[in-house]
Amino acid sequence: MKVLVTGGAGYIGGHMVLALRDAGHEPVVFDNLSTGFRWSVPDDVPLVVGDIGDYELMLQTLRAHSIEAIVHFAAKLIVPESVRDPLGYYLNNTVKSRSLLAAAVAAGIKTFVFSSTAAVYGNASDKPLAEDALLAPLSPYGSSKLLTEVMLRDVAAAHDMRFVVLRYFNVAGADPAMRHGQSTANATHLIKVAVQTALGMRSHMEVYGTDYPTPDGTCIRDYIHVTDLIAAHMQGLEYLRAGGESLVVNCGYGHGYSVSEVIDTVRKVSGRTFEARYAPRRDGDPINIVADSSRIRSKLNWQPRHDDLAAIVEHTLRWETMLREKNLKL
Ligand SMILES: NC(=O)c1ccc[n+]([C@@H]2O[C@H](COP(=O)([O-])OP(=O)(O)OC[C@H]3O[C@@H](n4cnc5c(N)ncnc54)[C@H](O)[C@@H]3O)[C@@H](O)[C@H]2O)c1
Repeated sequence: MKVLVTGGAGYIGGHMVLALRDAGHEPVVFDNLSTGFRWSVPDDVPLVVGDIGDYELMLQTLRAHSIEAIVHFAAKLIVPESVRDPLGYYLNNTVKSRSLLAAAVAAGIKTFVFSSTAAVYGNASDKPLAEDALLAPLSPYGSSKLLTEVMLRDVAAAHDMRFVVLRYFNVAGADPAMRHGQSTANATHLIKVAVQTALGMRSHMEVYGTDYPTPDGTCIRDYIHVTDLIAAHMQGLEYLRAGGESLVVNCGYGHGYSVSEVIDTVRKVSGRTFEARYAPRRDGDPINIVADSSRIRSKLNWQPRHDDLAAIVEHTLRWETMLREKNLKL
């Protein structure tokens, strides 16, 4: 299958490109390289450098490569940045996704997989979140993704298109074979930041909020290994190819770890001590976000293989060490 991967030069999209290639499909990457890296796209995978909001270039790309399915990862995704720059986030994530959808309709694309996020839910209770939980994003980032979900649903209803929306919880880890990992400069993801601090690349790290109503006062998240997340995308594509109806699914393991537990695990796995300073809460951070993953398990027959925080940390450590040795970090 010929699959357009928007954001395929980035962290998660890059893993998708490898998985598609491993499975004998033909990925084409479309990326403006704003946070992605040209070097991360394999030499035998076509890379179109462009913006998903460029309708003409997108339509031309879809036609020139006879694309059959789109997997849409391209987005900005830093929650506090979205609070400071909501219009920038609505433009990049929502308005430009509208343009992408318009090109997809014009090119007759029938299969669409979209990276959404648990940030569409807003502040949860202490129960795992099912897909029918209240949608009440706490940040412009979450809203920008939810609006794209809504557009996709309406477009699919009006045209000959079916979709899988995957709402990711906290994605972490790296390809166990170390072919790809997260390389973003100034990344804000907790596990990456803690690992960089353990490796001495940061003098210390910060823990935002220690007075939340959780057992140790720090926020709780459901961390999913990127390899398991990508398996969900591959199964989503197969499901649609087999004629499955449009579907929205959570991608998480169904249990969470607090920020303090993650830091302890990084200390244990790396064998290093490092300083974690307490800092005030950040705007837009929900307290406790854990997936109810029963729908993805039943509908896509998804069975995670890396549900192990220590393994996620270990893969992140190995990737970060390799980046440093090869001086790939930009
Ligand atoms: N990383 C997580 O924990 C997480 C959690 C939930 C959802 N997501 C979603 O996963 C997707 C991928 O995230 P990631 O962690 O790989 O981030 P990333 O920054 O590594 O990748 C995003 C890619 O999209 C590209 N891009 C951004 N805007 C673009 C545009 N207008 N036109 C073309 N290319 C553009 C960037 O250059 C980059 O290569 C995003 O849609 C994000 O919302 C990520």
